[in-house]
Amino acid sequence: MYDGGKIITGLIIGVILLSFPFWYNLGKAAKFPEPKLTPKAKQAGQCVETKVYMKAHHMQLLNKWRDDVVRKGYRLYVGLNGKMFKMSLQNECLKCHSNKQEFCDKCHNFVDVKPYCWECHIEPKEAKGGK
Ligand code: HEC
Ligand code: HEC
Ligand code: HEC
Repeated sequence: MYDGGKIITGLIIGVILLSFPFWYNLGKAAKFPEPKLTPKAKQAGQCVETKVYMKAHHMQLLNKWRDDVVRKGYRLYVGLNGKMFKMSLQNECLKCHSNKQEFCDKCHNFVDVKPYCWECHIEPKEAKGGK
């Protein structure tokens, strides 16, 4: 005779063991990081587009900027609230987000993406712990 109780208990323990690395990390690492804004960014009060849009689509926006600049020769972008932006990774995004390690990298390390942009584009020099 099967002992249904024991099988279920066994299954539950199995699931707990298999998922251990996941829930063990819940407390310390699984929370999506809150990237820090620089005083300059705070003062500007807004990004190029809404926060929700930027969070989900900044990669596409960067690709569009690159294509517009490199292929079409455009340099200006009209963003949220009609604000004008220079389409530049170094000279626009990283002017406000000059704390790349505390901002861009904080999310990227968490999801383990490593944009290769910095092979050519220059990273901002950071005061503490710079590379
Ligand atoms: C192989 C070198 C190289 C790599 C890697 C690279 N770029 Fe570029 N990128 C360039 C060059 C060269 C230009 C043209 C610069 C100009 O005309 O101002 C440019 C221009 C741009 C521009 C518009 C101009 C500016 O000042 O920013 C954007 C935006 C951009 N790249 C984004 C990216 C992003 C995002 C990545 C990573 C996903 C990336 N690039 C990776 C070489 C590179
Ligand atoms: C004028 C200053 C400024 C510029 C330029 C700027 N940002 Fe932002 N960025 C901000 C501010 C301020 C916020 C927070 C917006 C909010 O809370 O509504 C933000 C938010 C973001 C977020 C969302 C962060 C989160 O907590 O979810 C991302 C991603 C981002 N920016 C990427 C970029 C990229 C990529 C560029 C260039 C294409 C850029 N920003 C250009 C000021 C700027
Ligand atoms: C709120 C978190 C967050 C912030 C802040 C953030 N990113 Fe990202 N970024 C992501 C995520 C998540 C991905 C991966 C998206 C995917 O794979 O679809 C990503 C992907 C990218 C990519 C595409 C990389 C690839 O290999 O496809 C680029 C380029 C990029 N981010 C640039 C930036 C820059 C520059 C900044 C700082 C100005 C920045 N990001 C800030 C979360 C963030």
